[in-house]
Amino acid sequence: MANKMWGGRFQAGPDAIMEEINASIGFDKRLFRQDIAGSKAHAAMLAKQGIITKSDAAEIRKGLDQVQGEIEAGTFTFSRALEDIHLNVESRLKDVIGPAAGRLHTARSRNDQVAVDFRLYVRDTVDHFDMQLKDLQLALAEKAEAHAATIMPGFTHLQVAQPVTFGHHMLAYVEMLARDRSRLADARKRMNENPLGAAALAGTSFPIDRHETAKALGFDRPTRNSLDTVADRDFVLETLSASAICAIHLSRLAEEIVIWSTSQFRFVKLSDKFTTGSSIMPQKRNPDAAELVRAKPGRIIGALLSLLTVMKGLPLTYSKDMQEDKEPAFDGFDNLSLAIAATTGMVKDMVPNEQEMRKAAASGFSTATDLADWLVRTLKMPFREAHHVTGSLVALAETEGCDLPELSLPLMQSVEPRITKDVYKVLTVENSVASRVSFGGTAPKNVKREAKRWIKLLKA
Ligand code: ARG
Repeated sequence: MANKMWGGRFQAGPDAIMEEINASIGFDKRLFRQDIAGSKAHAAMLAKQGIITKSDAAEIRKGLDQVQGEIEAGTFTFSRALEDIHLNVESRLKDVIGPAAGRLHTARSRNDQVAVDFRLYVRDTVDHFDMQLKDLQLALAEKAEAHAATIMPGFTHLQVAQPVTFGHHMLAYVEMLARDRSRLADARKRMNENPLGAAALAGTSFPIDRHETAKALGFDRPTRNSLDTVADRDFVLETLSASAICAIHLSRLAEEIVIWSTSQFRFVKLSDKFTTGSSIMPQKRNPDAAELVRAKPGRIIGALLSLLTVMKGLPLTYSKDMQEDKEPAFDGFDNLSLAIAATTGMVKDMVPNEQEMRKAAASGFSTATDLADWLVRTLKMPFREAHHVTGSLVALAETEGCDLPELSLPLMQSVEPRITKDVYKVLTVENSVASRVSFGGTAPKNVKREAKRWIKLLKA
């Protein structure tokens, strides 16, 4: 049987394989709320403009409410023969209210309809991410406040570099997530324009009011070019791209959590709630949640690359290729949401091991820069020379098998005779971090202040 929604010029129905490759209902059914909201706004506008009667519009609205109720209750039967969510909803509307349903599609096409649905969906997703990321930032900022003075080694090349505080490290991620939120907010601004009324591609001859539907759907304004409107998927690409960057940030924290929780590092203890045991090795506690967060960028970047590839070289305007935008995007967004939630749980529960971190921070000559700075400040040595002298002192400590604070004064003076016992003050990790008071530096009082500032901001 030919399609009852558009089969006027068709004698035969589609081949089974055609139906399978063509149908999107299996995945676009999750757009039903957005689809129905778009239809309600459209019908109301058509009535206001005198394009359909007020009573037809009222019937349509009531019918759409019923359809939405059926989908929400799980009593709606989706049909693959009806291809997608748009035709499934419209066909059921016809069962419910009769011929008036046929007036809903006046001055509209599935091309602008799907653009509306997906923009609304992606906009909701962005709002959801924003809320989730804010929660994660708060969890990190609260850890930072509690551990503003907890000393840990800061790394470069994963080699101990200089002592920092655990709070400072937590706040580094708060900053990254702030940029992620701002990237998503930017994408939201550009996406928040109303596609409805672009119709198939050329606009319509009916006297529609696109400003009206824009307002009803919470869009800032209508889009300005009908061809661009039905051909555009930038809003998905941008959101996926911001999502991918965010996923990468999460994966870096996840990797640190994996490293920190090893028995070699023992910097943090993860909770039972976010780890698993081994079925064979009873002693094990595996950081599975962190490992999965570390892995998630694979599919989120995959989603972005997949849609970039679909869109590349597509001539204007709509082509069915574009139906391939949804599955990867849904998968990418679902997984980012899961990754943010898991990270928030891990961060809240994780307990830093202060002794281990301090011990590690004091190892590996981590206060060598403080020593060089002391030589510059006290002996007015040029920094390059101070760097060289410190290098010799580190080499000496290495031969002696001790750390810098354990190097005796006579030994130090054998390298640089002007060194006094005053130098030992800068060699402790506590003094080292306390001295880093430059704006954005790791000094506990800076970190405390920053953490408090973030907490206030995030709770406001
Ligand atoms: N299911 C389609 C999609 O997701 C809706 C638009 C169909 N438009 C069309 N002209 N066949 O892109």
